[in-house]
Amino acid sequence: MNLFLVLILAYLLGSIPTGLWIGRAFFKTDIREHGSGNLGATNTFRVLGKPAGSITMVIDILKGTAATLLPTLSVFAGSGVPPLVAGLVAVVGHVFPIFAKFRGGKAVATSAGVLLGYHWPVFLLIVLAFLVCLKVFKMVSLASMFGGVVAFVYAVVHFFMTDDWLLLLIITLLAGFVIYRHRSNIQRIKAGTEPKVTWL
Ligand code: G3P
Repeated sequence: MNLFLVLILAYLLGSIPTGLWIGRAFFKTDIREHGSGNLGATNTFRVLGKPAGSITMVIDILKGTAATLLPTLSVFAGSGVPPLVAGLVAVVGHVFPIFAKFRGGKAVATSAGVLLGYHWPVFLLIVLAFLVCLKVFKMVSLASMFGGVVAFVYAVVHFFMTDDWLLLLIITLLAGFVIYRHRSNIQRIKAGTEPKVTWL
């Protein structure tokens, strides 16, 4: 019973369409009709400004962290759900949210939150990789995908040191998910039309 409860709660947590709800509640704006059309933190930042974008980013990260920590709560003891699997389910919710007609984000912030909840050193590493790439190339999408690649390399090295095959598997899925969801960005990067941040 607890198994299904944890998985459903993780999915519902991930499904919270933060940017969409903030846009509707405070700006009377549907961010999916502006900018890249994505409902992630980057497009919220782009369409609604820094405060709304920052809040969206933090909440989207914490959705992943909270879902990952769900199975560790005593109330869900014995659920049998590995924390990383609960986190993965939250990312699926973020990408296919029940509260936004299954049109969600690109898995970046919520995946980072999963890693924060499970293994914070890799979270710090990907944040650093993201910031360095963003500083150099000024493209959030490229920095996001680079973060995914760095997480994958970390997971491979970590696997050989600790045998943590589940971390390797979940990071492989998350990084693959992030890159797959950036297909349109990859096309724009190739065409030289991907928007660059101007505030860095
Ligand atoms: O987190 C998503 C980001 O990497 C790209 O977002 O809106 O520029 O497609 P966007």
